[in-house]
Amino acid sequence: MDIADRLKLDVPVIQAGMGGGIAGAPLAAAVSVAGGLGTVGLLPPRQLKSAIATVRDEAPDRAVAVNLLMPFTRRPHVEVCLEARIDIAVMAFAIDRNLIQRLSDSGVFVLVMVGTQAQAAEALAFGADGLIAQGREAGGHLVGTVAQADFLPKALALAGSRPVFAAGGIAAAADTRAALAAGAAGVVAGTRFLLTHESGAHPAYRQRIIDADSTIETTVFGLGWPERHRVLPNATTRRWCHPDGSARRLPAAINKYSGALSRIPDRGDGALLHLQHPALPFLTPITLTAAMPADWADRAALYAGETALRLDRVTSAAQAVAELAP
Ligand SMILES: Cc1cc2nc3c(=O)[nH]c(=O)nc-3n(C[C@H](O)[C@H](O)[C@H](O)COP(=O)(O)O)c2cc1C
Repeated sequence: MDIADRLKLDVPVIQAGMGGGIAGAPLAAAVSVAGGLGTVGLLPPRQLKSAIATVRDEAPDRAVAVNLLMPFTRRPHVEVCLEARIDIAVMAFAIDRNLIQRLSDSGVFVLVMVGTQAQAAEALAFGADGLIAQGREAGGHLVGTVAQADFLPKALALAGSRPVFAAGGIAAAADTRAALAAGAAGVVAGTRFLLTHESGAHPAYRQRIIDADSTIETTVFGLGWPERHRVLPNATTRRWCHPDGSARRLPAAINKYSGALSRIPDRGDGALLHLQHPALPFLTPITLTAAMPADWADRAALYAGETALRLDRVTSAAQAVAELAP
């Protein structure tokens, strides 16, 4: 099987499905029209259905991909994907054997994002069609535990003939070329695509990425989802993180017992950020999208990878695809 044909790619570049309104239909469609693979981030089911329909309309000759952010994926999300006959699902932050099976049986190509050899082996044993090997330098939530360049060969060795895509640290054509030379089938970029006119990120958030001189790995924005993530420092992290990025005792304790909150259905409007404040240790994973006030940049999680230190402008999504093409 030629993976470029299967995924209908002209360029071996995948835009990461970023939840919370960052990667909606406008970004995914623009990336796919430009020859890459756009991925719709998880949205409430009704919005997800309409985003899939929009991508199909705007990029009719391309594959449609949806990110299944597993801690927040419920049966209605899956039904929407199957009814809309999506082509590709990217499963992340839990590996569900039954769901992989069900998607595969319906003809969906299933990629699983992994960060360790154990996760890679599990995903492959459960029937994943391919892997996304995430390095620790990636933006957003992390399964990655070591640098992408160190993990990629390990994932490739396990994957055999199944394709592996490299995620983390992809900001320029040279990064794509390096991943391809190491054996990757292609690359996945998140932060680079956040810096496009089509992303849902607030302009103030994009500007902070452009101005960034560091990122931190933390668990501080962990209310309802207490897993590691990479963000830009802001007033909230300065108040509630140790210098090494780890969460201080109070938010760490609150987050630790908050996992059940992920069961509350997401309305997709970030309403809880109204209540969030840098002085209070109740810190949700919600990020800053265009319709929110700019000054919430100091209370929200500003996810970004280490490429933030190299990226210096916002472009169109088509330009980003062109710049990442090997
Ligand atoms: C703003 C943002 C949101 C993200 N949201 C998700 C998500 O919802 N699901 C997911 O699987 N990965 C998510 N990621 C991680 C990406 O899948 C990918 O691993 C990462 O962006 C790669 O690193 P890079 O940002 O350096 O390109 C997100 C990343 C960013 C920057």
